Amino acid sequence: MRPPLNLMAPDVRANPYPLYAQLRRGPVCQVEPGGMWAVSRYDDVVAVLKDTRRFSSVGLGRGFLPPWLARNPVASSLVMKDPPEHTRLRGLVSKAFSGPALQRLEAQVRTLAEELAEATVQQREVDFTAAFALPLPVRVLNLLFGLDPERWPDMRRWAEDLLSIPASQPTPERMEDIRRSIQEMEECFQVLIATRRARPGEDLVSELVRAESMTEDELMSFLFSLLPAGFETTAHLLSNTLLVLAQHPDELERVREDPRRIPLLIEEVLRYEPPAQSSLRLVTEDTDLGGVRIPRGALVAVLLGAALRDEQRFTEADRFHPGREAQAHLPFGHGIHFCLGAMLARMEARLGLEALFRRIRGVSLTRQEVQWSQSYIARGPLSLPLRWEPRV
Ligand code: HEM
Repeated sequence: MRPPLNLMAPDVRANPYPLYAQLRRGPVCQVEPGGMWAVSRYDDVVAVLKDTRRFSSVGLGRGFLPPWLARNPVASSLVMKDPPEHTRLRGLVSKAFSGPALQRLEAQVRTLAEELAEATVQQREVDFTAAFALPLPVRVLNLLFGLDPERWPDMRRWAEDLLSIPASQPTPERMEDIRRSIQEMEECFQVLIATRRARPGEDLVSELVRAESMTEDELMSFLFSLLPAGFETTAHLLSNTLLVLAQHPDELERVREDPRRIPLLIEEVLRYEPPAQSSLRLVTEDTDLGGVRIPRGALVAVLLGAALRDEQRFTEADRFHPGREAQAHLPFGHGIHFCLGAMLARMEARLGLEALFRRIRGVSLTRQEVQWSQSYIARGPLSLPLRWEPRV
């Protein structure tokens, strides 16, 4: 018997693209873990994400509510809702992530990026993930929430604890840590909401409080969900960019000479090494897809990472080529759940890279093998030891 195709196999986590190529040759089939149905071609991925009636997001929260956790507001977040509830909630929160809201944040994010870049480049050899890629998004979330800047290490611990919930059974001590983090977050957000209700400002929470039809529970749940949504993915985008540039020094040279190319660089990193590799959906009725019948109740892994290397859509899909003609919006999903933070993530990446590129001439890896995150949902290096060649 052929061994099952396993998204969690160590060689697949190190490099998932050969398996994705095999899956795209079709037909749609089951994979490990859990016998999920893998959808991998660009057109099939778009079709699934558009069809919220047959491919639902409700029920996905179960993984965030294991038996040892009595309550976790992330389990009922926006991303785990279907219309009409999703439509109503999304309408209430969208304004807080609009262009004008982000413009108000831009100068502060730039200052943060400059400070972090200065400290990171001063160390000739550095773990880029720990020094820059993780702190920048956490500190931006901290800004977005309008919390005391000194609280960002708490915010980071909370985000990491929330992200670790769907993983395997934790030890009793870890369970206690996670429960404590959730309680601390609840207390922090309750104070924040009460303060903004009493004296609204221009920040995210004030904007949400103004949407009076949002219940206290919905508001809390939304704030909770922003931590895991906005933290790891953005950190992976930054680390993946530096990794790809260390492997493609000619591209670094080009973008350093003309920083207006940074947005093109970011779009191609999002396609070539996407931080979000997969979305999940539950099938609501027996459904034919790619010539295969998927049964009602089945879990579908919508492999964004595979679709973004589909030769039917991208010429020389395995080549890193900023400025390529076919643009991909899939790295942030598609349809009603399209990432609410996409503009914010792109802004963070742009300002972060501008600040770094002003200070360096070159970058190289101090260790060739990369330790990748072990998730089939998100992809990025756990650490990224780099050596800078500073600008003289
Ligand atoms: C949804 C990717 C950054 C907030 C999504 C989805 C993807 C994604 C693929 C769709 C999930 C699905 O269809 O099941 C990314 C990537 C990011 C990023 C690659 C960084 C490079 C952020 C940031 C925030 C954020 C910075 C906010 C601070 C959200 C929210 C949703 C979402 C709230 C749910 C939207 C909905 O269900 O309507 N993201 N994201 N994301 N993202 Fe992001």
